[in-house]
Amino acid sequence: MSEDVKKGLLGIVVDETTISQVMPDINSLTYRGYAVQDLCEKCSFEEVAYLILNKELPNKSQLKKFKKELDVNRSITINLREIVKHMPKRAHPMDVARTVVSVMGLEDKDTSNNSPQANMRKAIRIFAKTPTAMAAFFRTRKGKKVIPPKKGLGFSENFFYMCFGKLPNKEIIKAFDISLILYAEHSFNVSTFTARTITSSLSDIHSAITGAIGSLKGPLHGGANEEVMNMMNKIKKPENAFTWINNALDKKEVVMGFGHRVYKKGDSRVPTMEKYFKKISKIKNDKKFNKIYDIVKKVMMDKKDIHPNVDYPTGPMYHLMGFDTDFFTPIFVLSRITGWSAHIMEQHAANKLIRPLSKYSGEKHRKVMLLNQR
Ligand code: SDX
Repeated sequence: MSEDVKKGLLGIVVDETTISQVMPDINSLTYRGYAVQDLCEKCSFEEVAYLILNKELPNKSQLKKFKKELDVNRSITINLREIVKHMPKRAHPMDVARTVVSVMGLEDKDTSNNSPQANMRKAIRIFAKTPTAMAAFFRTRKGKKVIPPKKGLGFSENFFYMCFGKLPNKEIIKAFDISLILYAEHSFNVSTFTARTITSSLSDIHSAITGAIGSLKGPLHGGANEEVMNMMNKIKKPENAFTWINNALDKKEVVMGFGHRVYKKGDSRVPTMEKYFKKISKIKNDKKFNKIYDIVKKVMMDKKDIHPNVDYPTGPMYHLMGFDTDFFTPIFVLSRITGWSAHIMEQHAANKLIRPLSKYSGEKHRKVMLLNQR
């Protein structure tokens, strides 16, 4: 490869953003200048979602208004609910997520309006409705009745309520909230860059988020949390873990939940997420996944110096919370809709069509032969 091609845009800075940054000096992710660890300690997910979308943390009355706005927008149309009910039971929930956002784009009265005000309205509607549509599929594919959202419940509480029909204890809700805060935004990751690329042609937010969901599905990106669980299920029990992971490394396999394009000395979100995974593991009296987690992590770090990323602790934690494995990445979607929406609005505000160049290495100057001569 000649030096002027940067495959994967490795190390290329393509635009500016004020939404988030991994601060090199503290090797920590920050949203609008606040360290995520600080936000996890002092804020609810709704406060952080407001911050990412509106650039500032809300005061009490702003938060109350924001939560009310989410409440009134949570329900989905009968049409969308019927579409979800008739989706193939074996459909992957990430394909369902991509489709429900697309359908919302058909239904939304502001779809053809890309003004900042209309985009914020649409972002709130997508953010509020996607959990409802996904919870509906979570149940209908099991032959269960759809549970509508309950007024007054928070974002995380409502998702558990619509999926399971009841609320878990406060510590489980808190751990889930923490995972949503940590999943919300991460600068120019591939799904966010996909959303910005789609937006750069002045397309609409539903199209951009639909594309972003397609990108997040990939196992090298958001799909990794599902693959982490599949790996742990293949390992089966802690006594198999050491041999299993060493065999995987000997076979040069990519181990899901490890490594990162930006963090080379550890994903700044992992210590916080790991703490909450361990809490849930204790609450659920888990003797298996917690031990497998530690053994695999130790081998990866000792043998390859490859650190876990945020998908590593979230996988087993969502499993212990009772979610189906193929629902882990859709949970990532529910949170990342905030980051994607903020980037889409930022792209609209200072747009330049994204159109890179390529280095041609194909055939040249060929003459066309007539069909009967080929
Ligand atoms: C997310 O970008 C973001 O911000 C994404 C994200 C977000 O919040 O949006 O943080 C969310 O997507 C986290 C990443 C989830 N993906 C995975 O867990 C999949 C497993 N990870 C790898 O595929 C990999 O680490 C990537 C794709 C995440 C990053 O890879 P890079 O930066 O392109 O680096 P690379 O693949 O070239 O790896 C460098 C070396 C290679 O060895 P050599 O070929 O040089 O000998 O490290 C090795 C790789 O083989 N390596 C791994 C590995 N990750 C890197 N080897 C085994 N298992 C791994 N997981």
